Amino acid sequence: MTAIASFDGQAADFDRRAGLPARCSALVADRLVEITGLASGVGRDRGRLLEIGAGTGQIGAQLLAAGIDYLGLDRSRPMLEVFARRLAPQQHARLIVADANERWPVPARSLAAVFLSRVVHLLDPVVVWSESRRVAGPGGCWLIIGRRGRERDSVRAGMRRQMHALLADEGVGSRSGGEPHRMLRAMESWGGQSRFATEVARWAVVHRPRQALEAWRGKPGLAGVQVDDALKARVLDRLEAWTCERYGPLDREHRSEEHYALHGLRVPGGA
Ligand SMILES: C[S@@+](CC[C@H](N)C(=O)[O-])C[C@H]1O[C@@H](n2cnc3c(N)ncnc32)[C@H](O)[C@@H]1O
Repeated sequence: MTAIASFDGQAADFDRRAGLPARCSALVADRLVEITGLASGVGRDRGRLLEIGAGTGQIGAQLLAAGIDYLGLDRSRPMLEVFARRLAPQQHARLIVADANERWPVPARSLAAVFLSRVVHLLDPVVVWSESRRVAGPGGCWLIIGRRGRERDSVRAGMRRQMHALLADEGVGSRSGGEPHRMLRAMESWGGQSRFATEVARWAVVHRPRQALEAWRGKPGLAGVQVDDALKARVLDRLEAWTCERYGPLDREHRSEEHYALHGLRVPGGA
């Protein structure tokens, strides 16, 4: 199996390179509060939410600010260090370094919601399901997946598809953004209920192909997997040539839209 690239070396630069617009993070937190009903305030259920792959806390910090009883888990300590620095002095987040492809360090029957933003493609669906079943409170819990989507015919999406094809050509299996509905359909067949999907935010972006190539050159691995430097250089050189041929000069600006959607279902309790 291909080794997954670590986010440790990307932590300092992650928000600039791959972060979500601030307005999007705030809207995601609002929608999560709405869907789960978890927040401080009279008459609200005060169950706990676990975020898997919490990263630099762009959404987690907003969930804390909304009064959610929040627990963040991530394999990368440097990513969680950026998260901790983001918090206001009066805010305190419980952040745990752990691998979510192993047993989660969370007591059984203790959670009302599990949230995973832009990470499910790096996780084993069977572990996510069995651990969600184990930690779901007596009345069950929400399992909610967040995903950023790009227009299919945008330059960035086209370059990413080509990068996966070039890696496959080199015999390397890569990890793409993941299709939450495919994972959730499988979970439905294992007992998940009330599957839903809802778009939360949409925004305009301007991309220059050179930006994407430089970002991929500058971070460890490629398409979420570890590859050696020679192979990486070869794939990116071929991608650059393909991009020029297909889209023209690397510094040309291309406009498109991106969006963020939440997909989820109910995990039954009583496991
Ligand atoms: C693309 S980032 C997304 C961060 C954040 N959820 C967001 O949407 O901005 C993926 C995060 O998942 C973490 N991650 C990847 N594999 C993991 C695993 N097996 N267990 C826990 N965290 C993992 C990475 O360290 C990284 O912080």
